[in-house]
Amino acid sequence: MRILVTGGAGFIGANFVHWTRQHRPEVEVTVLDALTYASDGSSLAPLGDAITLVEGDITDAALVDRLVADSDLVVHFAAESHNDNSLVDPSPFLQTNVIGTYTILEAVRRHGVRLHHVSTDEVYGDLALDDPARFTEDTPYNPSSPYSSTKAASDLLVRAWVRSFGVQATLSNCSNNYGPYQHVEKFIPRQITNGIDGLPAKLYGDGLNVRDWIHVDDHNSAVWTIIDKGRLGETYLIGADGEQNNKQVVQAILRALGQPEDSYEHVTDRPGHDLRYAIDSTKLRTELGWAPQYADFDEGLKATVAWYRDNEAWWRPMKDRTEAKYAAAGEAVTAR
Ligand code: NAD
Ligand code: DAU
Repeated sequence: MRILVTGGAGFIGANFVHWTRQHRPEVEVTVLDALTYASDGSSLAPLGDAITLVEGDITDAALVDRLVADSDLVVHFAAESHNDNSLVDPSPFLQTNVIGTYTILEAVRRHGVRLHHVSTDEVYGDLALDDPARFTEDTPYNPSSPYSSTKAASDLLVRAWVRSFGVQATLSNCSNNYGPYQHVEKFIPRQITNGIDGLPAKLYGDGLNVRDWIHVDDHNSAVWTIIDKGRLGETYLIGADGEQNNKQVVQAILRALGQPEDSYEHVTDRPGHDLRYAIDSTKLRTELGWAPQYADFDEGLKATVAWYRDNEAWWRPMKDRTEAKYAAAGEAVTAR
C-alpha cells in the first residue's frame, strides 16, 4: 500500500508516520508538507530515507495531482492548526484548510483514490462547563474561531464530494492531542518549556476552560482503525475521556517538573475562547472496536515532559520566536 500523508511533518502527522513505520512497515509513505513555520521537517529526521518527504503546498494542484495519482490512500492532516494565529491573520487558514482540502478532493476524485480526512472536535463549538452533554457525530456544527470555521468548511466539502461525486472518504474529529513533537505555541508544550526555562506557566483568563486530552498515539491508532474498518462516507469522533481544566493541566505539568504548583500567572484571555470540549466516542469504540492505550493522563503527561527535557535541540529554535509572537499579539499578565 502506498500512502500520501499531507502535513506529515507536523505534530500529529509526524507521529502518524512514526506509528505507521513501527506498526505497518509494509506501507510505503510519502509525506507532502509545505514546511511552514509549524515544521522544519526535523520530526521526520529519525526515519531517514525510510520515507519520502516532498516539500510542497497542498494548494498546488499539479503537484497534488501527480502525488495522488501514485497513491492508494491519502491521509489528510495538513492544516493551519493554531486558534491564536487564526485570530491574528485568518488568511492562511482559508487558503490551506479550505482551498487545500478542495485541491485534495479534486485529485482523489479524478484518480478514484481513498481519502481519510483528519478534523477536529472544535467544529461543534463549545459546551457549558456545567453541561453533562458531550459531542457526538449528530451534534450540529457551530464553530467559533476562524480556525474552527475553516475546518468545519473542509469537513463539509468532504461530505459534499462523497455525496455528489462518490468520493471514497472517511472523516474523523478528534479532541486535543498531546505528546512528542508538538509545537511550543500549543498549551502543553508551551507550559513545559516555560517551566524548563524557569518562567511561569501562562493561563488564559481564569484557567477554568476544559479540554478533552488524548495522547497522539491513541489518535493515530484510531485513524488507522477507521482506515481499516470504517464505513465510507462516515464520520467518527475520537476521544479518550480525558477532560481536565487548564489549571489542572498546568498543575500536573508543574508536579512532573518538580516545581511549585503555583508557578503560573493569569494572562489576557483568548477572544471568543471556547469553554469546554468533550467527546463521546461510543461509535468508534462499539462499531470498530477501538480503545485508547494511554488510560492515565498524568502518566502520559509525565512521559511528554520527559520527552521535552530530553529533546531541547528540537524545540529550542522555535521557543523565542513563539514567545515574541505572543508578546506582539498583546498578551499581558492580568490580576486574579
Ligand atoms: P501542525 O500545525 O503541527 O502541523 C500541520 C502541518 O501541516 C505542518 O507540518 C505544516 O507545515 C503543514 N502545512 C500547513 N499548511 C500547509 C500547506 N498549505 N501545504 C502543505 N502542508 C502544509 O498541526 P497538528 O496539530 O499536527 O494538526 C494536524 C491535523 O489534525 C490538522 O488538520 C488539525 O486540524 C487536526 N487536529 C489537531 C488536533 C490537535 O490537538 N493538535 C486535534 C484534532 C484535530
Ligand atoms: O480540540 C482540538 C483542537 O485542539 C485542535 O483542533 C487544534 O488544532 C489544537 O490547537 C487544539 O486547540 P485549542 O485551542 O484547544 O489548543 P491550545 O493548545 O491552543 O489551547 C488549549 C487550551 O489552553 C485552551 O483553552 C487555551 C488555553 N491556553 C493556551 C495557551 C497557548 C492557555 O491557557 N495558555 C496558553 O499559553
